Formats: sequence, structure tokens, C-alpha cells
Amino acid sequence: MSLYEIANQLVAAGKGIMAADRPPAAFEQLLESEGIPVDEAAYRNWSELLFTTPKLNDYVSGIIMTPEQVLLRNDAGEPLIAGVIDRGMIPGISPFTGMITLAGSDGETVGSGLDGLRERLAEVAALGVGFTKWRAAFQIGPGTPSYYAIEANAYVMAQVAALSQEAGLVPIVEPEVMLVGDHTIETCFAVTEWVLSRTFEALYVHRVDLEGTLVKASMVVSGQDCAAQADVDTVAEQTVKVFKRQIPAAIPGIVFLSGGQSDYHATAHLNAMNADYELPWKLSFSYARALQREPMHIWGNRPENVAAAQAALYHRAKMNGLASLGLWTEELEGESV
Ligand code: 13P
Repeated sequence: MSLYEIANQLVAAGKGIMAADRPPAAFEQLLESEGIPVDEAAYRNWSELLFTTPKLNDYVSGIIMTPEQVLLRNDAGEPLIAGVIDRGMIPGISPFTGMITLAGSDGETVGSGLDGLRERLAEVAALGVGFTKWRAAFQIGPGTPSYYAIEANAYVMAQVAALSQEAGLVPIVEPEVMLVGDHTIETCFAVTEWVLSRTFEALYVHRVDLEGTLVKASMVVSGQDCAAQADVDTVAEQTVKVFKRQIPAAIPGIVFLSGGQSDYHATAHLNAMNADYELPWKLSFSYARALQREPMHIWGNRPENVAAAQAALYHRAKMNGLASLGLWTEELEGESV
């Protein structure tokens, strides 16, 4: 498939992406913090639960995986990735190896993992992986994000995007403006505009083909500790406004991260944008937490709960698939899962 076919298939009408790419160590930490028992097979079993959820492909076009997940096999010895491809979903990879602190900065970060990336991407492309995702995280605070962090991250994201396209993989470029903090929605708007503008400048410098690129963006929202929380319509209005200013219409689609929003808000915000605005790009989802929070609690690392957890995942995928068409309603949330 060409870059354009992959990009357009990932944002096919009514579908979005599931981000499953929590690395093994972070996954185990999360289970422990939630009081869920951890064992050696937990990572494999959780990944298998996610990837084999019945009918997930009705609403999910692609799954972002860690390098470890790309190589996982089921009990019969078959690669899990093969089942994903057979059901018409595109596997993607998050090839970064961790966040490091930018030298000389006030604790700001940049993703690492550029060494050997050309070779690693060629290897996973041969296994059937169709896209990459690379995240930059910007925290709003006194003096942050800085010009330094925005420029450094924009250049790394653009290098990864260019290397991805060289390997025939669609890059999903993820500049995340984080929810943490007590900033207002106006501050979030200003920071998002700055970050997007510098990210696209870097993509231009690195000769990235925009028609074969997707953006994974955060929404323009009030900081989670801000006393005045913007309502759903304001979030939709401000998010669409900043994208129209800074994201070229050549980009086939923008897929949101959930970033710590509640399941309800992640869906309601996406729906409002699609229901109320004329948009030059597809707007859909690439959620981790807003798809998997509830399924993980239901699962609790107990095999007898797999089917119920998969039903809950399917329900959230369906709600967000409908939101990507502007067809979600609150009443649908009550549907039995
Ligand atoms: P959340 O939806 O949980 O923010 O995760 C999306 C993601 O992949 C962050 O890189």
C-alpha cells in the first residue's frame, strides 16, 4: 500500500486508532498502582485481549504497538500481528526508547531512539507494520514549554517522520500539549498554536510528504486544575480554530490522544467537532486511556473476565467511531455492552 492509501485507511469514515503502546515496564507499574496482580504473562495476555477483541475492526482501523508487541505470539505460536492484519487493521509502531531530559532545560524532555532507527523501521515494515507514532510532550508551566524544547522536539519528530516515509510507513506526528496544570483554555490555545506552527515548519524543512502524514493532537482544553473549566462546545470551537490556523488541509487526518480526559469528555469533544464544523481533514481518535481504562479494570488480569473486558472495549470503540462521524449521543452510552 502507498503512504496515501495507508493514511486514508487509518482515517476511514467512522474509524479511529487504538493506542496500545504502553511499554512492558510502564504497564506493570500501572497494574501495580491499580492493585491488579502482575505476572509474567500479563503483558502478553493484555495485548492479546486488545488485539483479538471481536468486531473491533468495525471501529478501529489501526493499532499502535510497542516493538515488543509486534513480536508477541499466541499459544499456538502465531504472531499476534498476523491476526490484526487478517482482520483488516493496520499495525503501527511506537519506536522510541524513552523520554530523556533535554540538557540545560528546566526538566523538559525529548524522545530518544533515533540511533539505528532506519534499520529498525525497515525490519518492522517487512513484518507488515504500516505506520509509526512519535510523541513530544509539552507541559505548560512557568516558563514552559520553552522555545528550546519546542524546536528540539519539532526537529526530532520531523526526522522520525522523514525516516518513516523512507521506509514506506505513514508517520503519526504527536505534539502533545499536556492537560496537567492550572492554566486557562486561552493559554492552552496559545501554546498549541506555537507548537503546531513550529512542528509544521520542521516537517517542511525535512521534506515530509504531508499527504502521507497524520497528526496526533491534543485538544484545546482548560488545564485539569484550572478553576474555570471550558465546556464541550468551547473546547470544540477552540480546537477547530487552532487547527484551521496551523494544520494544512493536505493532512488527511488528525487523530486525538485522550491525555487524561474522562471517557465521556474524550467522546463528547470529538463528537462536537465533527457534528458542528465543516472540516478539511478527518478528525478521529487515537486513544489509549479513553478506550482501555474501563476494560482494564474489568479484566484485572483474570482470564474469566476477558470477554467482558473485550465487550467494554468494543463499546468505547463504537462510541468514538460514532463521534468521528458526529453521530454519537449520550443516550447511546447506556446501550448494554
Ligand atoms: P492517551 O489517549 O491515554 O493520552 O494515550 C495516547 C497516546 O498514545 C499517547 O502517546
